[in-house]
Amino acid sequence: MKWIDQAGFACAVGWSAHYCVTIYVGGIRFYKPIFVGSLVEVKARLIYTGKTSMHVAVDVRAGDLKDQQFTRTTHCVIVFVSVNDHGNPTAVTPWVAETKSELAEQEYALRLMQMRKGIEEEASKIPAEEAD
Ligand SMILES: CC(C)(COP(=O)(O)OP(=O)(O)OC[C@H]1O[C@@H](n2cnc3c(N)ncnc32)[C@H](O)[C@@H]1OP(=O)(O)O)[C@@H](O)C(=O)NCCC(=O)NCCS
Repeated sequence: MKWIDQAGFACAVGWSAHYCVTIYVGGIRFYKPIFVGSLVEVKARLIYTGKTSMHVAVDVRAGDLKDQQFTRTTHCVIVFVSVNDHGNPTAVTPWVAETKSELAEQEYALRLMQMRKGIEEEASKIPAEEAD
């Protein structure tokens, strides 16, 4: 998970040219285990930008070096916000989907955004733990 965050962070900072903070990580799906000694590849790419946010899809593939069979083990979308020196959100250059697969991923990001609203509404019903 640390590598996922680092790859996503590098992608977001590389795009915005500003420091970025994670505002949302959700729906991390671990499809398969990664065994000790496996070669692990972590790839991050932009799939949507808002005014100050960047939605970064991260895919992890792993496999045995000897047989060169690599399979997708993990996928998630992380939302980063570009911030200025005072920690306030700052506008990012819009990312424009061009290919068919980029357009499909952008649609996916927008659908996730909608779904998150329901999840957050549900989460807001859980009372915060009070100190004794
Ligand atoms: C990130 C932070 C500066 C944003 O401040 P804010 O006052 O909430 O800012 P805004 O309401 O203007 O939202 C900023 C962006 O985040 C998006 N956002 C807000 N809540 C979100 C959520 N739950 N999921 C996804 N994106 C969200 C907004 O849509 C907006 O994007 P846009 O400009 O592209 O439309 C502030 O929330 C913060 O400091 N959070 C803590 C970050 C942190 O500590 N992360 C962990 C370690 S890196």
